[in-house]
Amino acid sequence: MLFNLSLFLAGLIQASVIKAHTIVPQGFATANGDQFEVDGKPFAFVGANSYWLPLLTTKEDVTNTFEEMKNAGVKVLRTWGFNAINGSELEYAHKSGLTYYQVWNSSEWVINNGAQGLQRLDYVVETAAKNNIKIILALTNNWVGYGGMELYINWIAGSGNTHDIFYTDRRIQVSYQRYVKTIVERYKDSSAIFAWELMNEARCLGDLSGGPACVPGSQTLSKWYREQSDFVRSLDPYHMITTGGEGHFYWKDPKFASDYNFNGQAGENFDLDLTFPNIDFGTYHLYPQSWYASQDFPGSNFSSVQWGIDWITFHAEAARQVGKPVILEEFGMSGLENKTTAYPAWVQRALDTKIGG
Ligand SMILES: *[C@@H]1O[C@H](CO)[C@@H](O)[C@H](O)[C@H]1NC(C)=O
Ligand SMILES: *[C@@H]1O[C@H](CO)[C@@H](O)[C@H](O)[C@H]1NC(C)=O
Ligand SMILES: *[C@@H]1O[C@H](CO)[C@@H](O)[C@H](O)[C@H]1NC(C)=O
Ligand SMILES: *[C@@H]1O[C@H](CO)[C@@H](O)[C@H](O)[C@H]1NC(C)=O
Repeated sequence: MLFNLSLFLAGLIQASVIKAHTIVPQGFATANGDQFEVDGKPFAFVGANSYWLPLLTTKEDVTNTFEEMKNAGVKVLRTWGFNAINGSELEYAHKSGLTYYQVWNSSEWVINNGAQGLQRLDYVVETAAKNNIKIILALTNNWVGYGGMELYINWIAGSGNTHDIFYTDRRIQVSYQRYVKTIVERYKDSSAIFAWELMNEARCLGDLSGGPACVPGSQTLSKWYREQSDFVRSLDPYHMITTGGEGHFYWKDPKFASDYNFNGQAGENFDLDLTFPNIDFGTYHLYPQSWYASQDFPGSNFSSVQWGIDWITFHAEAARQVGKPVILEEFGMSGLENKTTAYPAWVQRALDTKIGG
């Protein structure tokens, strides 16, 4: 599936790509081929998604949460390294104790270094370190929730713009990078960071509609991943970097022509994006019930459980092809019975692929 890749890459690769150091400080997680390692030893893990951890308003709640996670055997968790608010929300935030790391103040983002701001994230990172748990820290959100990229679009480029301009507007890139620099430089020495994640679930469309710049074949999102991963690497030579994407493919097989997960419409190109020098491992998500209307109904040709198993297999095969690890980062089914059937089958399949985490 890597057709035309060399042509595209030849256009993108500049003479001086900064690459990760192969020798990293003690306790840092790295990728060695398609496996994770810490201090040269294989690092296999069970993880948790806890986007809400830095939103907890007392240190005690954070401490207790980490204790429970540690007792449950969690070694890696994923959380939001962003929480941005509009200026109009500031008063409410101060009343309610809402965590925010940046607020839009008429003409720019103002970073909140205070007790209700980045100090909360500091405490999460510190407590993770104490409990020997590592963090995947996402740097913005494709969706408006928690102050994702649409705040950048609306405030910097103006309302009425489409979602795709986040990837192409120079002013927005500068603003995103300024925030990324703040976060990466704050924690770059911490072995509690597992990896930086460029964005949660980047797509051509978000809560705003897509727009003309990001369509199958435009490589808009791939170029953005490439540039932003190189940028993060320029700030931090050691920690791993990943996309945070859902793992959409761009496959030309006509069988998939109308399938959003495979036809490139979403914006990602999993096979290509994983080849970038500063994308250290791949991520993908798995929500077949919300992605396909017709699964499991009478007359349907495939079940959610089987679809998930295939999705896991496709990503393992793609990652093996490139020689990098891959993480099944989020998955979900509604209904207790569905969970009971699907989760063990999916987790077992992911384990059987023996690739990544
Ligand atoms: C926000 O902007 C106003 C007006 O430009 C300024 O007076 C104020 O100090 C700014 N607040 C912060 C937190 O920077
Ligand atoms: C904050 O701004 C975004 C983007 O303009 C908007 O979609 C959202 O509704 C705003 N949130 C609040 C609580 O005002
Ligand atoms: C199942 O597959 C058959 C043959 O490929 C096709 O004609 C039919 O529309 C499919 N049914 C559903 C519900 O997708
Ligand atoms: C279980 O999954 C099926 C198929 O996706 C769905 O129709 C059903 O509503 C789910 N059950 C519950 C309780 O959500």
